Amino acid sequence: MKNFNLYEKLIRADILASTNDFAIDLVKSDEPVEGTVIMADFQTKGKGQKDAHWISKKDSNLTFSVLLYPSFLDPANNFYLSMALSLGIVDMLQFYNIDARIKWPNDIYTKNGKIAGILIENGIQNDEIKYSVLGIGLNVNQKIFPEDIKNPTSMRIELETVNKRETVLKKLLVSVEYWFNKLYDLNLNMIKNQYEQKLLFREQIKKFYAGDDIFFGTIKGINDNGQLLIADESDTIRAFNFKEVMYYHKKNII
Ligand code: BTN
Repeated sequence: MKNFNLYEKLIRADILASTNDFAIDLVKSDEPVEGTVIMADFQTKGKGQKDAHWISKKDSNLTFSVLLYPSFLDPANNFYLSMALSLGIVDMLQFYNIDARIKWPNDIYTKNGKIAGILIENGIQNDEIKYSVLGIGLNVNQKIFPEDIKNPTSMRIELETVNKRETVLKKLLVSVEYWFNKLYDLNLNMIKNQYEQKLLFREQIKKFYAGDDIFFGTIKGINDNGQLLIADESDTIRAFNFKEVMYYHKKNII
């Protein structure tokens, strides 16, 4: 048990290029305390997965990064950081009665679309995780999104109410602390189990696209390497890495 108090260690800025980049620079210069949270009301170069941009309307959403020093965690198990964080986000949304699921590996979805994304950047040296910067973009009050964003949604769209970002942030940090404590207590099986329970479309028959290979199958869970496990029609379990397999959510392939 680590007794994080993330909200106490919040650094808030109006504008940053990227809270992840700022956190990484801070680690390299100052080594701030574990659990430092850096939040910006606007990012000019918000980063998404796979070199994409994370575009978020000023003062409307939550864009922040949490700094951890999880040296106890085998780098091979680094996906547990993503699992713990995803579970924290899902729990917080559940508190607001938003039925959220985890779209493996790093997105949080409702039935309407993507409500949050995660970008984790680890500093690994000599087979040790020296630092981990866990970036979260959560759509809170934004109602209109750029055309090219696939299936965006927000708490505002889901609930038809405006929520104070400060209140959402406090709740989110408490939910995330709970799961970070589980991680620091090495409750890995419990984390993996819960993560699998919360997977989007788990146990539902879907059409999957893995390059030229198109097949029907059901998402079963993940393996220890964080690969997605899908049972195909002959009940063979197939393991996929990030971006190796796609499927439809509403009319978009994700
Ligand atoms: C994705 O879904 O592509 C991941 C999005 C992650 C966005 C967050 S916003 C706060 C943090 N700082 C960044 O530059 N990116 C992450």
